[in-house]
Amino acid sequence: TKPDPIPELKLGFSSIACAKKDSVVVAKGYSAQVLAPWGTPLNDMAQEWLSDGSNTALDQANSVGQNHDGMHFYPLNGSSTDGLMCINHEYIQQEALHPNGASVDPISGLRNSAEEIRKEINAHGITVVRISLLAGEWRVIKNDPHNRRITAATELQIAGPLSGHASLITPFSPKGKRARGTSNNCGNGFTPWGTYLTCEENWPGYFINRDTRSEQQIRIGIKKKDDKHTKYSWEDLAGDESEQESEFSRFNITPTGNNSLEDYRNEANGYGYIVEIDPHDPQSVAVKRTALGRFRHEGIAYGKLKEGHSLSCYMGHDTNNEYLYKFVSEALWDPADAERTDRLTVGQKYMDTGTLYVARFDEEGKGVWLPLTLDSPKQEGGTLGDDFDSLADIILNTAGAADRVGATPMDRPEWTTVDPITGSVYLSLTNNKAREEPNIANPRAPNDFGHIIRWNDVDGSDEFSWDIFVFGAPSDGANDINLSGLTESNEFACPDGLSFDARGILWVQTDNSGSMEVKDKTNDQMLAVIPSKLVDKDGKADIIHGDNQAELRRFFVGPNACEITGLTFTPDQKNCFLNIQHPGNWPYNMDATAETPEGQIIRPRSATVFIRKDDGGEIGV
Ligand code: FEO
Ligand code: CA
Ligand code: CA
Ligand code: CA
Repeated sequence: TKPDPIPELKLGFSSIACAKKDSVVVAKGYSAQVLAPWGTPLNDMAQEWLSDGSNTALDQANSVGQNHDGMHFYPLNGSSTDGLMCINHEYIQQEALHPNGASVDPISGLRNSAEEIRKEINAHGITVVRISLLAGEWRVIKNDPHNRRITAATELQIAGPLSGHASLITPFSPKGKRARGTSNNCGNGFTPWGTYLTCEENWPGYFINRDTRSEQQIRIGIKKKDDKHTKYSWEDLAGDESEQESEFSRFNITPTGNNSLEDYRNEANGYGYIVEIDPHDPQSVAVKRTALGRFRHEGIAYGKLKEGHSLSCYMGHDTNNEYLYKFVSEALWDPADAERTDRLTVGQKYMDTGTLYVARFDEEGKGVWLPLTLDSPKQEGGTLGDDFDSLADIILNTAGAADRVGATPMDRPEWTTVDPITGSVYLSLTNNKAREEPNIANPRAPNDFGHIIRWNDVDGSDEFSWDIFVFGAPSDGANDINLSGLTESNEFACPDGLSFDARGILWVQTDNSGSMEVKDKTNDQMLAVIPSKLVDKDGKADIIHGDNQAELRRFFVGPNACEITGLTFTPDQKNCFLNIQHPGNWPYNMDATAETPEGQIIRPRSATVFIRKDDGGEIGV
C-alpha cells in the first residue's frame, strides 16, 4: 500500500530564545492572551474571583478549577469562533487557593476547616465552558447551559468489566456501579465521536489504608500507615474522632467494619480510570471506562481510524519504570457513529469491550503488544489466570498483571499522540532520575532530560516497529547526553504534553521539574516540529537522528515556576489554546505577556492562554 501523500507543510516562525520571566513569550508575529483563569465564574451561583483568596467552596464549585492541564475544544456547528472547552484541573495550589494557605489545628496538626477541604475538592476535576471569539478576544460565556464542573465530589458511572463488581461496592454505591468524583485529571484525549476523555493520574496519594494493604494497593501506591496522611490530609478533620463520620472519611480506606457496605475499603477502587464526558449534553453523567485499565493514567490518543477495523488507543502510566498500554475495541469502526448524538452510547460500544495490551520493546526497533487476559502467558510460566479470577481482577491491578507478562519498564510514560498523516504514535517519556539499568527503549540511566519514542503497529499482528524520535538535553551537554544534537534554539528537558494538530505539526510541551542544566536557562516551553515529512517510500517512519532536529523550533515559553500543558486548536487552525499550570507570580493584570514587576507578589492563577497570529493566519505555518 502506498503512503498518504505528504502535504506541503513548513513551520513559518523563527525559534525564540530561552526565557526566565514572569510573563509568557511567544514567537514573533503572534499574540497571547489569558482566558478562563482559575476562579472565573461559570454562572451566577459564583462570586467573581477575589484576590484575597476568600472565595467560598460554593463559588469554586461554579467557577473554573485550579491547575489547568489537558484540554480540548469542541466547535459548535463547526465554528472556529464559538465552542465548548473542556479543561482538566490536575491538583491544587493550596497557598493560592486560601487566604493564607491551608489552615491546620495547632495542637493536632490536622486540617480544621471542612469549608476549605470542600473548596479544594471543588478546585479539582474538569471544567466544561462555552467560549466565543468576540472582537478578536476569546471570552467565557457566563451562564451558558453547557457550563459545568465535574469535581472530586461529582457522581460518576462505572462502566466496563468493573461495573457492578464486588470490589466497587461501597456505602455510596451498594450495586458497585457509581463512584464519587474524579481527580488528578492530568492529560486528556478525545474520541472520534465528539466526547472528551480525562485521565486520572496521581489519585493513589489521596487515599490511605492504615491496616494491611492489598497487593493491588501496594502496587499502585495507596498511602500506608507510616505515611500518616494523604496528600492534602482530607481524611481526618481536627476534633473529628476517628469513629466519627465526616463527608471526607471516604478518603480513609482502612477497613473498620465487617464488609464494604460498612466502611470505605473499596472507595479507591473507583479511581484510576479513563473518564468519558459528553460536553454537548450537560445533563449526561460522566463515565469511568474501566476496560481501559486502572493505573495512573496520564493521557490517551486514538490511532488513525479505518472503517471496518477495531479502534486502538494508546495510554501511558506516569511513574518511574511504568508501562505503555493500548486498548483495542471489539467493535469495528463505523464512520456513521461519528455523527451520532447519543455519544456515551457510542462510547459504550467502543470502550467497554475489547482487549487491553501492554508494550514490550525488543531489540532492533521491534516490539510486541502483550494482551492482559486470563490466558496470557506469564514470563515465569503459567498464565494470568493462575493469579487472577476474572478480567475485572486483572484490571483492578493492571500494573501487577503487566509486571507478570514482562512489559518494558519505561521512563515515566506521559502523553501519547498520533500523526494524522502517517498514523505513527508518539509517546513522551518525561524523565527517570531513578533509573539504574538502561534498556533498549530507555537507554539513559539516569534519564534526567526525557525523550520521545514513536512506533507503528504492524497491521494484523501484535507487533510494532519503533524508534526514538528525540532526546531532551541541554545544548551544551556532552555527546552522550545531547544525543540529538540540540542547540540553543531547541534545547528542552522533560517532555510531557505532546499533541499533533490536524495538519501534522507535532507540538512538544515541557514539565521540567528539576533538570537544572536546562532549568537554569529557560522556563517550561512549547516547541514544534513536522516529522511527517520524514516518511519514506515504504510508508514506514524513518529514523530521525540527524537533520530534522534542526527543524524543532521553540514557539512559546511560560512564566516562572509553571509547566506548559494542554493543547487544542480551532478547526481553522487560527486559534491555539494552551495551559499555564502552577505559575509562581502570574498573570499580572490578567495580561499574559506583561511581566509582573520586580518585588511585587500577586496571587498566581493557572490559566488557559490563547494564541493568535497578528495577520490572522494559521498558527505555526
Ligand atoms: Fe501530571 Fe504526568 O503529569
Ligand atoms: Ca502531565
Ligand atoms: Ca509531568
Ligand atoms: Ca503537572
